[in-house]
Amino acid sequence: MKLSLGFLGIAASIAYVQAAPASHSGLAAAPIAVPKTQSFPVQINPNFSRSAKASVFKTVNKYKKFVQADGHKATVLASTGSVNMTDVQNDVEYYGIVKVGTPPQSFKLDFDTGSSDLWFASTLCTTTCTGKSKYDSSKSSTYKKDGRAWSIEYGDGSTSSGVLATDNVNLGGFLIKGQTIELAKTISSSFTSDPIDGLLGLAFDTITDVAGIKTPMDNLISQKLISTPEFGVFLGKESNGGGGEYIFGGYDKTKFKGSLKSVPVNKSQGFWEIKVASSKAGSKSVSSSFNAIIDTGTTLLLLTNAVAKKVAAAYGATDNGDGTYNINCDASKLSPLSFKINGATYSVPAEDLIFEKDGNTCVAGFGYGDLPFAILGDVFIKNNYVVFSQTSSPTVKLAPIA
Ligand SMILES: *[C@@H]1O[C@H](CO)[C@@H](O)[C@H](O)[C@H]1NC(C)=O
Ligand SMILES: *[C@@H]1O[C@H](CO)[C@@H](O)[C@H](O)[C@H]1NC(C)=O
Ligand SMILES: *[C@@H]1O[C@H](CO)[C@@H](O)[C@H](O)[C@H]1NC(C)=O
Repeated sequence: MKLSLGFLGIAASIAYVQAAPASHSGLAAAPIAVPKTQSFPVQINPNFSRSAKASVFKTVNKYKKFVQADGHKATVLASTGSVNMTDVQNDVEYYGIVKVGTPPQSFKLDFDTGSSDLWFASTLCTTTCTGKSKYDSSKSSTYKKDGRAWSIEYGDGSTSSGVLATDNVNLGGFLIKGQTIELAKTISSSFTSDPIDGLLGLAFDTITDVAGIKTPMDNLISQKLISTPEFGVFLGKESNGGGGEYIFGGYDKTKFKGSLKSVPVNKSQGFWEIKVASSKAGSKSVSSSFNAIIDTGTTLLLLTNAVAKKVAAAYGATDNGDGTYNINCDASKLSPLSFKINGATYSVPAEDLIFEKDGNTCVAGFGYGDLPFAILGDVFIKNNYVVFSQTSSPTVKLAPIA
């Protein structure tokens, strides 16, 4: 897709990271593979699982209001539905099971607040979808043909493409009728080696691959399946049992401490974008303000190049030249990294500033990505509960995890 550029392939064992600036937009880039040389400390995990993606600079000339976004007129009882998540390879990605069609066919989908498409492998995918659960339209009585083509290229070079259709989708116990689904005919090798069957995008509908598609959240709201237009995200840590949980139509107050604080979202680029006022390493001030998107589909905390340099300096981290840093392996020598957001402070503890230990070398939980904004990925979200509120003036609500 034309101007669309996803980003970031921070993967298991840092298989791929965003690197060189490129592209006509000059703002995003294809990732590079980390060279597997003796001098390079990070092993490539052959089971690459790409993480975030999203259509960054797709021309967005439409801005859709969520007509029933506030849900005050909902005629059904307030209701929530939940999806348990599986934590893949030490918090690299998280997937939930979603059922599609009648009778239901189940898929493992990466729930991604950094993109807006819902796609998965299908029986149309005859060569590249080995090992995937494949949607079979002939076995669903509620399948309807659409036939338009879709094609997504993510910033890590991974791709998928196929045709559109509609069917009923059961998300967390809610039955969405006539959801547009994107049936994959081809997926690139990085998807083939990933445990997921596809993605479920939870960003705004202004950045869907084919214009005019309603996201599952749009439909949960417009079909009045949820009366509060929000979803709450808890991502677990493998060190703490893993897992995770999405609540649609509400949130899980057992998962955070204190009270949620609201932060305005700028959705003009189709993302859950917020302003971070400042950052600190321990008590030491590190950076002034920057914009950031909250993206469950990105593994690490990716900072803008300028902020990353300052954060790295504060931790004595060394630049690997590929978007990653090496950091001291002794967490007791590191202080938490904290962000001031709309007057409140949210932290990433020292132990999560170490993403991966490999002998005496440790890769940091933060990196950089040649992007105009930072990405508060899973390293942030697994420490801070996030409620994504899709009202006409969207907000996120944050609180430290319990
Ligand atoms: C890669 O995936 C295969 C098949 O799922 C598995 O047997 C193997 O242990 C994985 N390797 C790593 C390094 O995770
Ligand atoms: C999610 O996991 C919890 C704890 O294992 C379980 O009690 C609950 O039934 C699960 N929920 C769903 C929707 O599967
Ligand atoms: C929202 O983001 C867009 C694009 O980055 C920017 O042009 C605009 O000024 C922002 N709006 C607000 C209210 O900050």
